[in-house]
Amino acid sequence: MKPLLYVTRRLPEETIDMLSAHFEVSGWESEETPVPREILEREIEKVDALYCLITDTIDAALLEKAKNLKVISTLSVGFNHIDIEAAKAQNIAVTNTPGILTDTTADLTFALLMATARRIPEASEHLRNNEWRSWSLFSLTGRDIHHATIGIIGFGAIGQAVAKRAKGFDMNVLYYNRSRKYEAEEMLGASYQELDELLKKSDFVCILTPYSAETKDLITARELKLMKKTAVLINTARGGIVNEDDLYDALVHGDIYAAGLDVFAEEPIAPDHKLLTLPNLVALPHIGSSTIDTRLGMCRLAAQNLIDFMQGKRSNIVNG
Ligand code: DGY
Repeated sequence: MKPLLYVTRRLPEETIDMLSAHFEVSGWESEETPVPREILEREIEKVDALYCLITDTIDAALLEKAKNLKVISTLSVGFNHIDIEAAKAQNIAVTNTPGILTDTTADLTFALLMATARRIPEASEHLRNNEWRSWSLFSLTGRDIHHATIGIIGFGAIGQAVAKRAKGFDMNVLYYNRSRKYEAEEMLGASYQELDELLKKSDFVCILTPYSAETKDLITARELKLMKKTAVLINTARGGIVNEDDLYDALVHGDIYAAGLDVFAEEPIAPDHKLLTLPNLVALPHIGSSTIDTRLGMCRLAAQNLIDFMQGKRSNIVNG
């Protein structure tokens, strides 16, 4: 008999075919909405394996209900939605999808940086709202990207991929990371800075560090006040890393120039959230890895991680 697998979202047929060769697969049939908690609680009791997304909260209380669960595969590189220590205590392996989304997420980070610095959504709205009267000297002026200083917080694969793009724009690259990355420093011509120094010196601050107890509220009013008044903050990592109330105040009071966010403390962000009223905020609905090729690749990799685990191979285990 094949092991039982529950999948928390409708997946492409090719991924289901891949999984069905190794598992008895059942799952939540919607592509748009997450599986309700009560259904997940019921399903997790029975299965040997779980295929989940960042929208599923896999906490200790849920894991306690699992009787046979051996492995959880998340279709994401981030795994802060899973209590990996509680899983480990129950001998449940957790896998993720690193690598496959690195360049796509770096592309989006840079796109958001450019859109925010050059006010692209605002300029587009200006035209569509029939407000474009004439070529004008100082209307919709933004900030230069080329030759500016970029400070990258979190110098893992995605941070380094953003640095590579920044080099193409002749930017001066600074980074802050828990540990020094000597090889990457040399390869990318990046220089390490303590966090406060990076904040003071950067024209663009990009957050690309994982979310954890250590990085929760890493950027609050104190850090925002250290930044240049002309600086732009970009967050494509996780919402809770930046304190949103403090960011709102900083944007309103001109402590920083603008911010571009692809991630929020609560997702989806409420449409009437005060941040969304600000003209100097560019907001995206968590689309960092959202290209067809990358999402298909993530679907496959998350499936392969489960298949590997069942065959005794340890692929992309984050709590091992
Ligand atoms: C991840 O993989 O963690 C992203 O946030 C979603 O692609």
